[in-house]
Amino acid sequence: MPAKNIDELVALCKRRGFIFQSNEIYGGMQGLYDYGPLGVELKNNIKNSWWKSMVYDRDDVEGLDAAILTKQTVLQYSGHEETFTDPLVDCKSCGERFRADQVPDYCKKEDLTEPRQFNLMFKTNIGPVDDGKTFAYLRPETAQQIFTNFKNVIDSTSRSIPFGIAQIGKAFRNEITLKSFIFRVREFEQMELEFFVEPGTDEKWHKDWIEARLSWWEAQGVSRNKLELYEVPKEELAHYSKATIDLMYKFPHGVEELEGIANRTDFDLGSHSKNQNELNIASNVKHNKDSNSKLAIKEPHMKDWLVPYVIEPSAGVDRAVLAIINEAYKEEEIGDSSRIVLSLKPHLAPIKAAVIPLKKNNEDMVSLAKSIKNKLQELGIGRVILENTGNIGKSYRRHDEVGTPLCITIDFDSLESSDVTVRDRDTMKQERVSIDKLREYFLKYF
Ligand code: GAP
Repeated sequence: MPAKNIDELVALCKRRGFIFQSNEIYGGMQGLYDYGPLGVELKNNIKNSWWKSMVYDRDDVEGLDAAILTKQTVLQYSGHEETFTDPLVDCKSCGERFRADQVPDYCKKEDLTEPRQFNLMFKTNIGPVDDGKTFAYLRPETAQQIFTNFKNVIDSTSRSIPFGIAQIGKAFRNEITLKSFIFRVREFEQMELEFFVEPGTDEKWHKDWIEARLSWWEAQGVSRNKLELYEVPKEELAHYSKATIDLMYKFPHGVEELEGIANRTDFDLGSHSKNQNELNIASNVKHNKDSNSKLAIKEPHMKDWLVPYVIEPSAGVDRAVLAIINEAYKEEEIGDSSRIVLSLKPHLAPIKAAVIPLKKNNEDMVSLAKSIKNKLQELGIGRVILENTGNIGKSYRRHDEVGTPLCITIDFDSLESSDVTVRDRDTMKQERVSIDKLREYFLKYF
C-alpha cells in the first residue's frame, strides 16, 4: 500500500533523519528545510545519477559550478528583473498575503486588494556599505551563469554545437505561497542542462530530450504511469520560451511539475551578447550595452556568426527527492504484523548495506563485522554501516524503512564456517553467503 498522504512521508523523513524543518529549535522558518544524515545521502545519489547520465555517459556535455551571488546586470539582461514576478494580493479581513491565482479556500475572498507584481528574487548586500547600490541577487535559476560562461567553456574545451553545459546547484525564490513540504520552497536545488543546437534542429532536439528525461526518471524508480507530459499553453510560456513541456508527476497532493523542458531559442545568448547587430538574433532581445563577450560561434565553414538555440531540461532536486520517496514508500502486511519499506533503487539507497553482529558484546563477532564493513566500504559503492544494536529484528525494521537493500548478519556460525546471512530488503529472503564471495555478491547487486 502506498503512502495515504504526504503527512506519512513527512513523518518518515523526520523519524529516520531524511529531512528536518530548518531553524526548528527557534520555531522554524517557512519554506526552508535541512537534509539530515540519510537525506543528504539520498540527495547526493540522485545528483550523482543525473550527473552520470548527463555528463559521463555522453560525449557532448561539459560540467560547470558557478557562483550563486549574481551581478545585477546578468539578471537585468536575462529579463528576470522585469518579468520574474508573481501577482500578489492582500486580504484586508484576514491580513494575509497570497499569490493572486492561489488564494486558499479558508480566505473569504471578499476584501482582496488589486493584484500587484512582486519580484521573487532575493537581494543581498555586497561589501561593508549597505547603500542599496552594491547588491547582488541570489540566483533564481542556475541557468544564467551557464549562458554567461558559454564563451569560456567553448574556448577552453574546443566544443562545437550540438553540445551542452550541465550544472547542479542552489537556487532561491521568495515564493509567496509555499506548498506541500519540500515541493515549493524558498531555497532549493536545480539540475539544469543548457544544450546548444543549430537553429532549425531545435524542435527535434527538444523531442529527444523529453524522451531522454522520461527514461532517466523511470531508471530512478518513478513509474511512467505517474508521469504526464503537459504542453505549456502559449500565453503561459516564460518570456524566453518558444515551447515548454512540463513533466508532471502524481505527487500525494496532486499532479504537479517535476521538471520543465524548454526550447529557449537564442534568447539568452542573444540577450547577454555584445555586438548584437552582427548576430541576426531571432528573439526579441533588449539592446545590451554592458557585455564584453560575443556569445556566438563562427566556424571555418560558416559565412556568418551563429547564435545557437538552447534546449533546457531543468529538474528540481527537492521535487525529485519527494517523488522518489513517494514511489518507494510501501506499507506491507506480513502475517499479523506490518512493515514500512522504502523500495529505493539500489543506486539511490542512502545506506547500501548494514553489517549487523548478532550479539553486540561478542568481541569476535563485532570484530568480524567491522572487517566486513571496511572491505565493502572500500569498494566505493556508497555508505556501508556497522549496526551494533544487538537487536536484529529492530535493525531489519529500521533498514527496511530507510531503504537499505542488504542486511548482513554475523552470527555464531559465521565464526566457525566463515559465512554470513544476507537479507534482501524487498523479498526479505535470507541466504548464506561465504565471506570470501561477499565482495562479488555485493558488486553484482549494485
Ligand atoms: N531554468 C528554468 C527554470 O528555472 P522552472 O520551471 O522555474 O524553470 C525548474 O524551474 C524546476 O525547478 C521545476 O520543474 C522544479 O522542479 C524546480 N523548482 C522551481 N521552483 C521551485 C521551488 N520554489 N521549490 C522547489 N523546487 C522548485
